[in-house]
Amino acid sequence: MTCLPKLSVLLLFAICGGQVNSQNDPTPKVEALYPKGFRVTLDDDNYQFFGFRGNINKPFDDGINEGEIKKDIVTKSRGKWIYTNRDVTLKIGDTIYYWIFIRQNGQGRMITELEHTVTEFVNPDGTPVKPSGGTQPATQAPNTNTAWVWGPAGNGNQPSNRFDPPGPDCKLSKTMVVGLGNICAETLIFNEEFTKTKLGELTQWESLIQFPDEPDYPFNLYRPDNTITLEDGSLVITPVLTETDTQSLYAVMDLSTSCTGKINSPECRREGVGAQILPPVTTGKISTRHTFSFKYGRVEVRAKLPSGSWIVPEINLEPTESSYGSTKYASGLMRVAFVRGNLGLAKKLYGGPVLTDSGPFRTALLKEKIGIDNWHKDFHNYTMVWRPDGMELLVDGETYGTISPGGGFSEEARKNSVPHASVWQRGTVMAPLDQMFHLTLGLRVGGVYDFDDGLEGKPWRNTASKAMLNFWKAKDTWFPTWYNGAMKIDYVRVYAL
Ligand SMILES: *[C@@H]1O[C@H](CO)[C@@H](O)[C@H](O)[C@H]1NC(C)=O
Repeated sequence: MTCLPKLSVLLLFAICGGQVNSQNDPTPKVEALYPKGFRVTLDDDNYQFFGFRGNINKPFDDGINEGEIKKDIVTKSRGKWIYTNRDVTLKIGDTIYYWIFIRQNGQGRMITELEHTVTEFVNPDGTPVKPSGGTQPATQAPNTNTAWVWGPAGNGNQPSNRFDPPGPDCKLSKTMVVGLGNICAETLIFNEEFTKTKLGELTQWESLIQFPDEPDYPFNLYRPDNTITLEDGSLVITPVLTETDTQSLYAVMDLSTSCTGKINSPECRREGVGAQILPPVTTGKISTRHTFSFKYGRVEVRAKLPSGSWIVPEINLEPTESSYGSTKYASGLMRVAFVRGNLGLAKKLYGGPVLTDSGPFRTALLKEKIGIDNWHKDFHNYTMVWRPDGMELLVDGETYGTISPGGGFSEEARKNSVPHASVWQRGTVMAPLDQMFHLTLGLRVGGVYDFDDGLEGKPWRNTASKAMLNFWKAKDTWFPTWYNGAMKIDYVRVYAL
């Protein structure tokens, strides 16, 4: 009996007595090839035939049909069935929806609803095409771009246009990505849907293992164990108490071998003595510092913010090189969404830049939106547009604030006696927000700037040396409020302007 998928699919299915997906279905490997095309590889298991049906960015929502890309393969080579497509142009974030058909022992079998989202490109030999040839760009002077790797990157044989070769439709974007050349407008330059099930499977993020320190001195440390999980397609970050049967807050905690902070500094080693206890809370934080940094673009994050007293979310852009200084937020921080977890404060959403550690200028540029309900009650879409001439904040598609640098942020900052304001004059009007930034997602607790003294029930004073100890002593007032203390992130997408 012949069983050629040229026939109508349903007919073929009937003739071959095929069966639809079962547990032991083989899944092929799909790789996006540089500069064009993709490759599908299926390990042989006594198959007589392999057929591929695919669509780019279009699910097979009307049942099984033939798709835009069809290929029947009747011979295998070296134990593998390989289909190489050399025609389609893919970019990061594109999804190949496909189904396959195999024949084994004369029996036909369809494996449907498969998909592959492009997160990287490989050379024909399967080695990844790295944006910057694996090397990080050198530190640069703030007002030039020359030290970043543009155009043919790293080892010299990298593409200068990894996403969209500029065709007639390409409008050049002002967005820049470390390691890449020109980018076409509106391209999806970063996509994380958190569809994996294990943290270790996330390839675009690194988990922080360190004690956060200056300038906010939060009351937590970062460690992914027990704090970061992937559940139902979301990243979940949960705050837990540091104190356990084996760990007291009066002990030495040395993160040295795995520490992501500065070795031999309080970021990597602490000792709990007297009022200086170990951070009583452990949370998680992930970052794209070593994998994805960019300048200007639109960041979209769908998230459910954490609820609970003194918990704050970190959905931030942080400077990759601290070109304007590394203390007191001299190189800036951008908050995509910020809501304090306390019930009485959770209707106020903030977004925008933090350009110094202390008030009043710390919060002067943040935009605020009062919610009908507490923001942490549901998932919302938080968007930040970062342009060479200003910023815009949106929630659920609605603009709630725009920020204009006027004659430069340094002007207003100088009036507020911000010590590092003069350094920004080396840059553009957006300085310090005219450099490469990366994404961070995390949770922090307390600290000495995000909660004003005088807030009802606040157990510590910001300037007190016993701030963290007093916070810990009041555990019975805040810990019971943490039953919904986790932050959930559904996706993070960054588009070129
Ligand atoms: C948020 O974005 C998702 C798509 O990512 C969309 O389905 C949803 O309607 C948006 N929600 C709001 C309230 O805009």
